[in-house]
Amino acid sequence: MLSFRLLNIVRVVLALSTISLGSSVPSKRATVCNGHAELCNRSYGNITHFGSHDSFAFTKDPFVLARDQEVDIPTQLGLGILFDGGTVQDYLTKVFNWLQANPNEVVTLLFTNPESVSLPNVWAPAFQASGIAQMAYVPPSIPMKRSDWPTLGQLIDSGKRVIVFLDYGADTDRSVNYILPEFQMIWETPFSVTDSTFPCSVDRIAGPLATLDHMYMINHSLNVNILDTGIIVSDPLEAPTTNSITSITAHSNGCAPLAGGRAPNFVLLDFVDLGQGLAAVNKLNGF
Ligand SMILES: *[C@@H]1O[C@H](CO)[C@@H](O)[C@H](O)[C@H]1NC(C)=O
Ligand SMILES: *[C@@H]1O[C@H](CO)[C@@H](O)[C@H](O)[C@H]1NC(C)=O
Ligand SMILES: *[C@@H]1O[C@H](CO)[C@@H](O)[C@H](O)[C@H]1NC(C)=O
Repeated sequence: MLSFRLLNIVRVVLALSTISLGSSVPSKRATVCNGHAELCNRSYGNITHFGSHDSFAFTKDPFVLARDQEVDIPTQLGLGILFDGGTVQDYLTKVFNWLQANPNEVVTLLFTNPESVSLPNVWAPAFQASGIAQMAYVPPSIPMKRSDWPTLGQLIDSGKRVIVFLDYGADTDRSVNYILPEFQMIWETPFSVTDSTFPCSVDRIAGPLATLDHMYMINHSLNVNILDTGIIVSDPLEAPTTNSITSITAHSNGCAPLAGGRAPNFVLLDFVDLGQGLAAVNKLNGF
């Protein structure tokens, strides 16, 4: 029953800034955070994270229209992102094991809950059984302004290295304190974009905080409207162009006026192995 319900989850995103491959033994105070010493003293709310959306849609079959990703888990780990198509608990267990092996990484999980299934009865047991619950950050108050977030170094030093957002359900049900209401703290750009110039606007947003106090996410995947039928699918042929530094930077620049001049906090791509996603994110982080 649990996995049946969880199959309804249509978006699972895991965002990392970067990966420090072959990371060293954990020290008392982190000196490298998500692959960069400079990030240790930066607020979580002032970092651009690299992510992918619809990680459930991984497949190598080119005839599956719904595929948004085409690389397997070890490859994605090398890219700074992780995907899975199994149950949420399997997925979280893989993330947990990976975090154990990579003690200087902070990971963001964005889950979707379109049917608003129960947080305490369905979501929390998966987080607990996987071990992730004990690593999940619990903010001192909800919603957190973007300037309220601790630094990556503080998150790593405290052992609370997983930030969990849920799109629907967590705003009304606060019974699981580490599952955070996404749109109260993050706004996002429109999805199913078919305009390759990615005009920026504030799409989903919620809660009492001003737009400028939210973090924000650019949904940088270009879709095609098949033969103008209105059927929208993500477009792998365009991915190298879409995932170029030029295109991602232009999208970010287009959003900056809506965000107090800031870069996006999350850059979500399709086909993350194609193009220059990580290089673009490093650039947005000032590297
Ligand atoms: C971070 O800031 C502290 C003081 O707040 C300083 O001692 C430390 O050297 C800084 N670390 C890095 C990596 O800049
Ligand atoms: C991004 O766009 C896709 C479709 O293009 C959509 O399914 C998804 O919900 C959007 N948002 C995020 C945060 O992935
Ligand atoms: C972080 O702060 C710098 C300096 O104010 C800014 O240029 C950058 O856009 C910010 N990034 C994010 C993701 O907030």
